[in-house]
Amino acid sequence: MANNRVICTENNVDYLSIRKAMTSGARTIAELVKLTGVCTKCRGCKSELGAILSSVCGCKNVSLKAVVHAVRNGADTVKKVGEVTGAGTGVNEETGEECGKCKGLIQNIIDLGR
Ligand code: FES
Repeated sequence: MANNRVICTENNVDYLSIRKAMTSGARTIAELVKLTGVCTKCRGCKSELGAILSSVCGCKNVSLKAVVHAVRNGADTVKKVGEVTGAGTGVNEETGEECGKCKGLIQNIIDLGR
C-alpha cells in the first residue's frame, strides 16, 4: 500500500482519507467529494482519484473490478476473496508480517456487493 500523502491539494485531502472513505462505501468520485471534500479540480484529483478508486489491494495489484467479480461469484468472506484474487494476502517484505491493510475495504465490498 502506498504511503500517505496529499492527493487533493486544494482541500488538503490525503490518500488515507480517501481509502477510509472507500472502506465506508465510496466507489465514485462524486461519493469521494461528499465523504472527503476532494475538489475534483486540482492536479491530484484529476490524475489520481480514478486510479485510487479502481484499486483494492496494492500489495497484490488487485482491482476493485476483480474483487467485485469474485464477490458476485460467491466469495462471501475476506478469506475467500483472497483465495480467488490474492487481495488481502500481501506480506511486508521487510518484516514478513501479513499486510492486511485492504481487508476492511474487501469486507465493505462484500457487505455492499459493489
Ligand atoms: S494492500 Fe496489503 S494485502 Fe492488500
